[in-house]
Amino acid sequence: MLIAGNWKMFKGPAATREFTAAFRAPDGVGVVLAPPFVSLAVAVESGLTIYAQNVHWAEEGAFTGEISPGMLLELGVAGAIVGHSERRQYFGETDETVAKRCEAALAAGLGVIACVGELESEREAGETEDVLRRQVSVLPDDERLVIAYEPVWAIGTGKTATPEMAQDAHAFVKSLLDRPVLYGGSVKPENAAELLGQPDVDGALVGGASLEPEPFAAICRAASGVGSTEPGNGEDTSFAGV
Ligand code: PGA
Repeated sequence: MLIAGNWKMFKGPAATREFTAAFRAPDGVGVVLAPPFVSLAVAVESGLTIYAQNVHWAEEGAFTGEISPGMLLELGVAGAIVGHSERRQYFGETDETVAKRCEAALAAGLGVIACVGELESEREAGETEDVLRRQVSVLPDDERLVIAYEPVWAIGTGKTATPEMAQDAHAFVKSLLDRPVLYGGSVKPENAAELLGQPDVDGALVGGASLEPEPFAAICRAASGVGSTEPGNGEDTSFAGV
């Protein structure tokens, strides 16, 4: 099991230090935190496994506002989230740029959590599998790749996919690419155990409920004992227990 906290655009360095001083990860579960870029260095000092929320495909160059895989590695960052639906919705991320970011990050030795998921209108139109097929088809088959299934209508809305919906989508994603699949979208301490209990749910990507140490630790505890999925990083390319 792997529980990743995506802090989005919350917590500068001081708030990050406060969180990591208070947070204790339980044994038996892989834990990743993904703070904003400016808080990565402080987060790395905590000894926790730290991912960025995005990464560019070039080593360096005229790409204002972007960060390269090598820069993250230099900082001690172990990986990056790629293709989050907010990047796709608000910042023009496409399947093509997601693929480029994933490939470059993996080639550099970073772990990657690649996000996929359908819009509400796509689910209602019966297009969920088509969307997932399109989004997953560009992802490289790599031992450091983890996929996050995040139905867009469940992100930050309080609407969670039912455990059955999550299970069906995860099984479908795995039929396309056999990698661990995290569920994301309004995961909370109250619903974590049921979602994580589904056979093809290998962990969670948690937004809002990862911003305070206790609810995040409670989600990690719900996952512990179900088996550990080690996050990918530059030193260790294994995914134990999946
Ligand atoms: P949420 O966000 O848990 O706040 O719904 C999940 C995500 O966007 O990764």
